[in-house]
Amino acid sequence: VTKKRTTMFRVPGADELLRGSLLHMSDSRALAHWLTHNPLGRRLATRFVAGEDLDSAIDAVRVLNSKGITASLDHLGEAITNPAEAIDAAGGYVAILGRLNQSGVDSNVSLKLTQMGLDISITLCLDNLIRILEKAQEIGQFVRFDMESSHHTSDILRVFEDVWQRGYSNCGIVLQAYLQRTERDVDWAIELGCRVRLCKGAYAEPPTIAFDKAGTDLNYVKLARKLLDAGHYPGLATHDLRIIRQVEGWQPDPASFEFQMLYGVRTELQRRLVGDGYRLRAYVPFGSDWYAYFMRRLAERPANLMFFLTQLKDALPVSR
Ligand code: FDA
Repeated sequence: VTKKRTTMFRVPGADELLRGSLLHMSDSRALAHWLTHNPLGRRLATRFVAGEDLDSAIDAVRVLNSKGITASLDHLGEAITNPAEAIDAAGGYVAILGRLNQSGVDSNVSLKLTQMGLDISITLCLDNLIRILEKAQEIGQFVRFDMESSHHTSDILRVFEDVWQRGYSNCGIVLQAYLQRTERDVDWAIELGCRVRLCKGAYAEPPTIAFDKAGTDLNYVKLARKLLDAGHYPGLATHDLRIIRQVEGWQPDPASFEFQMLYGVRTELQRRLVGDGYRLRAYVPFGSDWYAYFMRRLAERPANLMFFLTQLKDALPVSR
């Protein structure tokens, strides 16, 4: 009983409050408009975003490939509410797959189902995905469905299972260790035989459904072990050195999984893992709709916010 009380009335720490506020701000259209139209904002975004157009993203992938790192391209965009925009976004991905094929770089793609129209209708989202998966199948490519906030988890998994049962096995899912439901979802994915990218989770979720930081880390390790044992080539997406060291300690076959990290984050560690013979895939986002992605990256690490505020302060006119 005492334990339950402590959890219910736990006072959030400063980092947690900051994280919550930044994640809350990531939904603000006014802030998004201001920051993405601000030259300084655009410059700061290059810390995490490979550029605003596909050419810049492909250049970034070429540089990564030259260091032995593969990639997953994400054309930024989410929470689309207009059907024409969702259809355009799907067409954009078909074109990206075509360009990847021509350019010969080593990269697959990651996409968000709310960019494909999930919030409008499941049928529209499915039609859009099937267009993309058909193109991907034609050229032997792989498509990863990113995971979004818990409002969408069940729908994303349902749509994924639907396309999988239709025979599109060239796609994989993402599961988030911070959700209490995820162990069941991992079992479901293992049963299905699909590839899973395991991450901690990047959205603001209530304690009724999500673990705290320590619980998330423990769950991550437990689920990583399960996925490695099941043998469907999991992607272990984390920059957490303690977890990475734990995985290394299990001495898994380096060809049976890949580590995954975000573009621009812990690049030294990325290089070290490649040097040690592990497979490493970088998640490379590009496009002009970078605001929500950028805010989630700031929320993950308070030092990122300090860096951002210092740059902002230096750019402001000095008042006399
Ligand atoms: P943790 O947050 O504990 O960070 C460990 C250490 O890594 C930090 O101490 C810091 O040194 C470094 N670090 C982490 N984030 C950093 C940052 N932004 N800037 C600088 N340093 C940082 N989430 C989701 O909900 N759905 C998804 O589909 C995906 N997809 C995805 C793909 C890939 C390839 C990765 C790596 C991550 C995701 N994520 C995601 C994001 C994920 O859920 C999580 O928010 C971040 O990876 C941060 O968690 P870590 O596991 O790195 O641990």
